Amino acid sequence: MERWQGRVALVTGASSGIGAELCLALVRHGLVVVGCARSVDKIKAIAEEEKVKISPGKLIAFRCDLSKESEILSMFKEIRQTCGRVDICINNAGLGDEAPLLTGSTAEFRNMLDVNVMALCICTQQSFQLMQEKGIDDGQIIHISSMLGHKLSTAVPGAHFYCGTKFMVRALSEGHRRELKAIKSRIKVSCISPGVVETRYLANFWKKDPTKDPSSHLKSFECLQPKEIADSVLYVLSTPAPVEINDILIQSREHSFLCNVKL
Ligand SMILES: NC(=O)c1ccc[n+]([C@@H]2O[C@H](COP(=O)([O-])OP(=O)(O)OC[C@H]3O[C@@H](n4cnc5c(N)ncnc54)[C@H](OP(=O)(O)O)[C@@H]3O)[C@@H](O)[C@H]2O)c1
Repeated sequence: MERWQGRVALVTGASSGIGAELCLALVRHGLVVVGCARSVDKIKAIAEEEKVKISPGKLIAFRCDLSKESEILSMFKEIRQTCGRVDICINNAGLGDEAPLLTGSTAEFRNMLDVNVMALCICTQQSFQLMQEKGIDDGQIIHISSMLGHKLSTAVPGAHFYCGTKFMVRALSEGHRRELKAIKSRIKVSCISPGVVETRYLANFWKKDPTKDPSSHLKSFECLQPKEIADSVLYVLSTPAPVEINDILIQSREHSFLCNVKL
């Protein structure tokens, strides 16, 4: 990880869950982390935590609604001015709404598409442009997909649109990799697909269903913790230049058994 010290990483969805843990892991390794989300105060609070303050890196909080292209472009304008570069782009922000294909609201479909897919594409394009301008040829792009981007699960029938966005994230990962190879770039692209992680993702997914209790559900089996996903990102970043990790699939052993999302 030494080669990343002092370099700049963008982490989207930094206000909670996996993104917040990623910010912590990266500042601990001496990176300058630009963390963005709508709840900027939560990111500022993370930046004020003692464990972050004593870390060699630093966390810069940006407010950005990733469903709005104009806000993403303004954020990159500010990143250019304040940091001057981006070496790592981690497209982590994402959400799932319980919205069945036949009856779900198209506003929910569109929001998932905007955040899970469009924002990932725009942030990657902007990061790539900045890397090219600054002559950064050892950059890293990381997309967070999902195990539900590999196989639909009968356990979450209202998640088919979400699954579709995560299948697309995997296709986009391969597309980004091929386009970079075509121009002989050494920027690497990796895709990480977690199973169930203990974050507020599920509380959002079930927000319209009062019969569902996300916290007791998450306690009913051994699910993944955000740190385990952050560790897999550190692994991707610690590989030597010739090694490109294409895909990491990570799920709790117990959950793969319960939900039958084994591949
Ligand atoms: N938890 C799981 O079981 C699981 C499993 C597989 C994959 N994943 C994926 O992991 C990623 C991280 O999710 P998580 O589990 O850490 O969930 P989380 O705790 O709900 O975090 C989601 C993050 O995305 C941000 N976000 C959502 N909408 C946004 C918007 N319009 N603009 C900017 N930021 C937005 C949220 O910030 P604000 O609300 O402050 O904007 C938050 O920081 C997602 O891509 C998710 O699909 C999660």
